[in-house]
Amino acid sequence: MTVGMRTDPLSQSVPQPYRSAGATALQGTVAVPGDKSISHRCLMLAALAAGRSEFTGLLEGEDVLATAAALQACGVAIKRLGDGHWQVDGMGEAGLQEPAQVLDLGNSGTAVRLLMGLLAAYPITVTFGGDESLSKRPMGRVLTPLKQMGIQFLGRSGDRLPLTMRSDGALQAIRYKLPVASAQVKSAILLAALGANGTTVVIEPEPTRDHTERMLRAMGVDLHQEHTHEGVSWSIQRPMGALSPLNLAVPGDPSSAAFLLGAAAIVPGSALTLTGVSTNPLRIGFITMLQEMGADITLTNPRLQGGEPVADIVVRHAPLRAVDIPASRAPSMIDEYLIAAVVAAFATGTSVFRGLAELRVKESDRLAAAAEGLRLCGVTTVIEGDDLHVVGCGAEGCQGAQPSWRSWITALP
Ligand code: S3P
Repeated sequence: MTVGMRTDPLSQSVPQPYRSAGATALQGTVAVPGDKSISHRCLMLAALAAGRSEFTGLLEGEDVLATAAALQACGVAIKRLGDGHWQVDGMGEAGLQEPAQVLDLGNSGTAVRLLMGLLAAYPITVTFGGDESLSKRPMGRVLTPLKQMGIQFLGRSGDRLPLTMRSDGALQAIRYKLPVASAQVKSAILLAALGANGTTVVIEPEPTRDHTERMLRAMGVDLHQEHTHEGVSWSIQRPMGALSPLNLAVPGDPSSAAFLLGAAAIVPGSALTLTGVSTNPLRIGFITMLQEMGADITLTNPRLQGGEPVADIVVRHAPLRAVDIPASRAPSMIDEYLIAAVVAAFATGTSVFRGLAELRVKESDRLAAAAEGLRLCGVTTVIEGDDLHVVGCGAEGCQGAQPSWRSWITALP
């Protein structure tokens, strides 16, 4: 069947259909690409360190490359030594410099939001831009706390890119309760706090990925975590001395692993091992979901890599049953709902994914895209408020579908 589109490699503007057919069993052992969230942070935090950092397994996708280019524009010497092998000479005391040009972060929400926090700690004026989709995404969630810290923003269209940020580098510490659970916003505030006088406190309503916190601690930053009645609270102070460089092997991305795990779980005869995948407890909501559905999944060889827990994950096909995923699970599987919805179509019963408002403000409205894409493949889906219901057809999948990629593409928001 035809289910999607790709871009002609020779012409970025000509969409073409791509085809998928019923798969045979997935078998073997594979390593997934390096984690995207960690890769962005490796480059950014290494840029602050006093000395040279080195990374292997760094993801070399467009988003991470946009971060590398932005940091280079701020004076950071970044060198690619080989496949996924990168070296960063941190600016230390000298600090990041004002870029001569607009920083174009392409399609990357993580890059732009974290860089706003990172650069805010310096006396700098900088303009952030991005592609059409990034320019439609809300930046107010980062602007609000940064403004409270004393940063000025100027933009043409409210809180959307392009935005110019002006900082005098002398920031005020704040106590800020995040209105939405977002690792990007939490990280932006923690990074800005490196330039603030006093103790900055960030409180998150639900715990979100903690890669920034793990790395900052490894670099010698005093970061204090507390569980309060309001949520998880992080306190951070301007570091007294220089930040230590980082040397680490980036763990495999659980968000990339999810597609293979999902495919192996639903295709009969599959038995797949994924090596070196991050099993950070704040990233494994999808694996927990598969286990609740009755999937045959084992985590073996648990170890620490680059300050993060990793394991090899073995998955075998098994019959799946529907699940009801609470909103509180969303931060730990926020990028996995599309594949989660596909897996639910192969379960017995109706699955419900609750509290997905955040999916509407990603690079596209992923909630609408999931519901519509599956509907066009013959699966019954319903969006009720911010919840997605998927009526599963069991292991055989939904029959009689007449998928039309053209109508799906035009239906995409
Ligand atoms: C990310 C956080 C999440 C996630 C994104 C990467 C990060 O976004 O969806 O792909 O690296 O901090 P939110 O913070 O907006 O939930």
